[in-house]
Amino acid sequence: MKIRPTSKVKGKVRLPGDKSISHRAAIIGAIAEGRTRISNFAASADCASTLECVSALGASVTRSGDEVTIEGVGKNGPQKPSGVLNCGNSGTTARLLAGVLAGQPFNSILDGDSSLRGRPMQRVIAPLSLMGARFDSEEDNLPMTIHGTSPLKAIRYKMPVASAQVKSCVLLAGLFAEGTTILASPPDDVPGPSSRNHTELMLRNFGVPLTERNVESDGRFVHEVSIDGPSPLSGRDVNIPGDVSGSAFFLVAAACLEGSDLTIENVGLNPTRTAVIDVLRELGASIQTVVENENEPEPAGKIRVRGGIESAGGTGIVSGGRIANLIDELPVLAVFGTKLEGGLEVRGAKELRYKESDRIRAVVTNLKRMGAEIEEFDDGFRVARSNLKGARMDSYGDHRIAMAFTVAALVAEGESEIVGSDCVSISFPGFFHSLQDVVK
Ligand code: S3P
Repeated sequence: MKIRPTSKVKGKVRLPGDKSISHRAAIIGAIAEGRTRISNFAASADCASTLECVSALGASVTRSGDEVTIEGVGKNGPQKPSGVLNCGNSGTTARLLAGVLAGQPFNSILDGDSSLRGRPMQRVIAPLSLMGARFDSEEDNLPMTIHGTSPLKAIRYKMPVASAQVKSCVLLAGLFAEGTTILASPPDDVPGPSSRNHTELMLRNFGVPLTERNVESDGRFVHEVSIDGPSPLSGRDVNIPGDVSGSAFFLVAAACLEGSDLTIENVGLNPTRTAVIDVLRELGASIQTVVENENEPEPAGKIRVRGGIESAGGTGIVSGGRIANLIDELPVLAVFGTKLEGGLEVRGAKELRYKESDRIRAVVTNLKRMGAEIEEFDDGFRVARSNLKGARMDSYGDHRIAMAFTVAALVAEGESEIVGSDCVSISFPGFFHSLQDVVK
């Protein structure tokens, strides 16, 4: 894909349904009793992988555009799949399904594409083994055979890293355990969930009692989520808001280009996902949000962003507990960092190395190609204010890298090319069209 710079972005954007929430609606709907109707289901290839997997487990799935209906098989209903469950590129599919499969009275095999085969599964194997499931895999990678056990043992598990995928995996396994399973987040400076809480909200919406509490020790906070198993679930209607992670690309493009004025409608505004908006504001972007659906489990509404950065000076720093809440937005924040007077430093983000690509390496390599001054750390990077020049960049087969560097290309001087830009379909197939509509 060739991209020429633009002077501003203007108008309205509607985003596809949220990828994280769509995965959860499909998986939880499949193991609920009765029908779950999902509207605005994500147009993402990853979420299509999840639908295929849950139908291989016996749920009946019908889809018409972004409307998905699932006839749930109930908690005791999943059937042994006849073949391998192919998770494609999707870490969320593999890790969340592992939690469900661990509690089944049959064996199953999870596999994925070459990127997913390289991503760590030990983080879910460890807690699920404590719960009684067994695993066969080479070096804890996919393909992986799960020897399910019914019922599982309830555990108290301290998560070594703040990961919504690990938390969700163990909570889902907790549905199939006898007793109370407790998940404790790594200690943080602020109370509250340490990573996105869509699984908690969705399970409650399907009738599962969950409790949460903050435990304070030495001025730090551990967030605990408890789930009582075995617990039934009942199907319901779920409305998926637009994907706030997809909005980040538009927010950064608009903020970097003076004269821009963009409104993003029907977008998820769950506080465990909006850290990117808080950080952009702190770093000088002009962004307003309005929540418009007070009564829904997932907050959603409007975001308006106007061009121009009122930098407070000094180096912007993003680190600590908020990293997990904006992990997917860090590549595009790096692009924003090149426009800040004092640049931007991101630390404590080693998790970026284990995503669809090594995102620290990908960001550093691509920004260097564009002429930016950037230093790489094991757990992050520091980028200085830089004039970006058009260049040929690699997506590394990673949708968020492709979209972040499309934004970099829009705010650079001269034409750029993104090699392997098709991978945007993993989360946002209409990305280039949506962008085309607002580029002026
Ligand atoms: C996700 C959680 C995050 C995120 C991923 C989606 C989810 O991963 O990077 O894109 O839907 O739970 P981790 O929980 O492993 O940090």
